[in-house]
Amino acid sequence: MKFFIDTANLEQIKEAQSLGILDGVTTNPSLMAKEGITGKENILNHYKKICELVDGDVSAEVISTDFEGMVKEGEELAKLNPQIVIKLPMIADGIKACKYFSDKGIKTNVTLVFSAGQALLAAKAGATYVSPFLGRLDDISTDGLNLISEIRQIFDNYMFDTEILSASIRHTMHIIDCAKIGSDVVTSPLSAIKGLLNHPLTDIGLEKFLADYKKGN
Ligand code: G3P
Repeated sequence: MKFFIDTANLEQIKEAQSLGILDGVTTNPSLMAKEGITGKENILNHYKKICELVDGDVSAEVISTDFEGMVKEGEELAKLNPQIVIKLPMIADGIKACKYFSDKGIKTNVTLVFSAGQALLAAKAGATYVSPFLGRLDDISTDGLNLISEIRQIFDNYMFDTEILSASIRHTMHIIDCAKIGSDVVTSPLSAIKGLLNHPLTDIGLEKFLADYKKGN
């Protein structure tokens, strides 16, 4: 399973990268705004900085909601770095743009996916990644994990190449649950990734090993 970090915060990206387990980065306009990155030029420069920090795919989201606008924006984003993946909203024009970019060999990530039908359409349009939003479904008392399972089954039935990129991950257990289902990728906040490190028995065990070592030295 690939690990992406879901942030535009450069320090957090560096920290995840330093663990040696990071496969890519996802961003969105809200995450950019959270870091105070506004204005087209600043946003494009920020994507370049992110690409310099990591080796893998970096999702950059378009703002346009019409096909022509998405194509123009996406082409500009794709020119920044070969690592850039064009993130497109799950609307009719987003699906058309997804087909356009996949035909050109440019990677895409169809975002804001909340149903298996939407994921199926994105896969048909040749999406590299499809992003079901787990946490936001949980927020409205709907079973987000069930959606990941449904998409897994559909993609396996037809051997779609599209990878399931589980997004809107809120905590460490979401990562474990996605791994159990067979999500190809999870994109998580740094806190959820670091939560995987923790177990009290590891801490107790290490403390004892070190104490025993000191006794003999
Ligand atoms: O990248 C999109 C997604 O991960 C958003 O997460 O926590 O805002 O629902 P959240």
